[in-house]
Amino acid sequence: MSESTNSPSKELPATNFRQIFRDVLAGVLEQSIAADELNISLDEIPLLLEQVRETADSKFGDFTATLAMPLAKRLGLKPRELASGLILRINQYQLFEEKFEPIDAPIGPGFINVRVRDQAIVEGLRMACLDSQLGVPKVSQPHTIVLDYSSPNVAKPMHVGHIRSTVIGDAISRVLRFRGHQVITDNHLGDWGTQFGMILWGWKRCRDESAYQEDPTQELGRLYRLVRKVVDADPQELAQDSIAAALAEKYPEARREVLAETAGLHEGDSENRRLWEQFMPVCREEIERIYGRLDITFDHTMGESFYQPLLAGVVKDLTSSGIARESRGAVGVFLDGYESPLLVQKADGAFLYATTDLATLAWRVEHWKPDRILYIVDHRQSQHFQQVFATARAWGCRSEGQLSETDLVHVAFGTVLGEDGKPFKTRVGDAVGLEALLDEGVERAGRVVGEGEQARQGMNDAKRQEVAEAVGIGAIKYADLSQNRTTDYVFSFDKMLELKGNTAAYMQYAVARVEGIVNRGGVDRELLRREISNDSSVLKLSDPLERRLALTALKLGAVLEDVEIDYRPNVMTSWLYELASCYSSFYDALSVLKAEGSQRTTRLVLCDLTGRTLRQGMELLGIRVPDQM
Ligand code: ARG
Repeated sequence: MSESTNSPSKELPATNFRQIFRDVLAGVLEQSIAADELNISLDEIPLLLEQVRETADSKFGDFTATLAMPLAKRLGLKPRELASGLILRINQYQLFEEKFEPIDAPIGPGFINVRVRDQAIVEGLRMACLDSQLGVPKVSQPHTIVLDYSSPNVAKPMHVGHIRSTVIGDAISRVLRFRGHQVITDNHLGDWGTQFGMILWGWKRCRDESAYQEDPTQELGRLYRLVRKVVDADPQELAQDSIAAALAEKYPEARREVLAETAGLHEGDSENRRLWEQFMPVCREEIERIYGRLDITFDHTMGESFYQPLLAGVVKDLTSSGIARESRGAVGVFLDGYESPLLVQKADGAFLYATTDLATLAWRVEHWKPDRILYIVDHRQSQHFQQVFATARAWGCRSEGQLSETDLVHVAFGTVLGEDGKPFKTRVGDAVGLEALLDEGVERAGRVVGEGEQARQGMNDAKRQEVAEAVGIGAIKYADLSQNRTTDYVFSFDKMLELKGNTAAYMQYAVARVEGIVNRGGVDRELLRREISNDSSVLKLSDPLERRLALTALKLGAVLEDVEIDYRPNVMTSWLYELASCYSSFYDALSVLKAEGSQRTTRLVLCDLTGRTLRQGMELLGIRVPDQM
């Protein structure tokens, strides 16, 4: 056992106590293995460390390690004896002695429970308070990570389904950046699909020139919806739309003609290409407006069209390396375990969605050399991604470059449901899309935050509108992010705009309240920081509520780690809610501004840290927090 493991290094996360306990445990397990007390391999340690968690009840300490039971079972030992042996070493471990109180004995069948020393908490508070990253260190091995999210099919109006990918992808990208990874975001626009065939067909037959001059987005949207009805030829729908019905009658071959328009575009027909180039900026403008309201930006927006010149090469490469083969005129990749092949070229020569994805993958790997690529896409595309990833791996093994070393992850999510439990639709057939949904959220937020509060007396109309925008859009984002992403969730304005409970508005109020204290007390934050930077003895914990608040605020680093483990922003929202609740209990029971001496300083530091941590947390979710509400 080398001495260095036992002495705290500079990089040690002084504020992340779960990590410190894990580091201690790792050292102790290594010692036990070296001393032949534990017959396991070193490689098993990381997995064992995952069995360190917070305790459910602080009566039993702050963290618990449950590894003794499964380990003892496997090795044929008595769990309490195994735990006692580990505890002996843990208690002697220098880093442990510094940060934790000595452990008496295992609890119950063999739990190893630990309690952080108050002095270590105070030290953590001080460090977090003085640090612009709130005490969260950057990861020691940053990865280059490409995030593919939002990626709507343009020329169709954006709808509620697009919000999940956009909002989840944005939050994950912010968290990964904060942790120190090199993040590249890429909006993989669907800008080459059959929707253009519909618009081209409609444009040539029934455009309204003056409407287009006035509002091109609106007119293209109208054409899309109209032609879609003509092509679908659903009698019920046509019965309600006489224009569509008349067109359907006049053009019985509409479906085939629309396909021909798309094919014309893909084959380089000059008229279709010219129109496509004319329409694209209009489509882009519409989505950019929505991204602007949602505070979403991308490093790159490289649509499917960008990769078109590469597709023939992909198919050739896959075929010549024996990964793809011809079958009834088409070309497909036949993988074990899948009923149907992954088609990369149709019998008529057309390329497919999968072909573009493979070309995109190869391009990204070649140009960005990522360690990981995350695809934040609807769970209904799971099979597509599984097959694309498997094909890419086979392909990567046979070609040069990094393709086979890149970790490919489909970050899937469930469907947004209406209150009737069916997939949420914004007023069927109507022009209402995502934008109108945002408007409605903001309008309702204006009503919710528009009354009562004293703070509002001083707000002018512009300020009020700004707050309503932050609360309304924040509510929609937070409602989405606070769901376990893999399950479906019910979209409900009433619920998401509630001022109590785990909602954006509650969190936004919480930040305003916490910051209000510090401001009301006329506290100079810089002075406060200087006071504690020179002398940590000015901080002292005197109440369990202070202790709990401090430990909860200092969980930020552990929470971000958990968010990254399986890309779940809801881990973050749950913790933010917990932090806000801890703060409420603290503030209801203890006085801050009227306290004196080190008690006042400690409580002010706690308020300052809580406020900054909540604000930072919301920012990492991509949610604005107004400075007054
Ligand atoms: N445009 C696709 C859709 O709307 C999503 C694209 C996701 N990204 C990808 N690389 N396939 O369904």
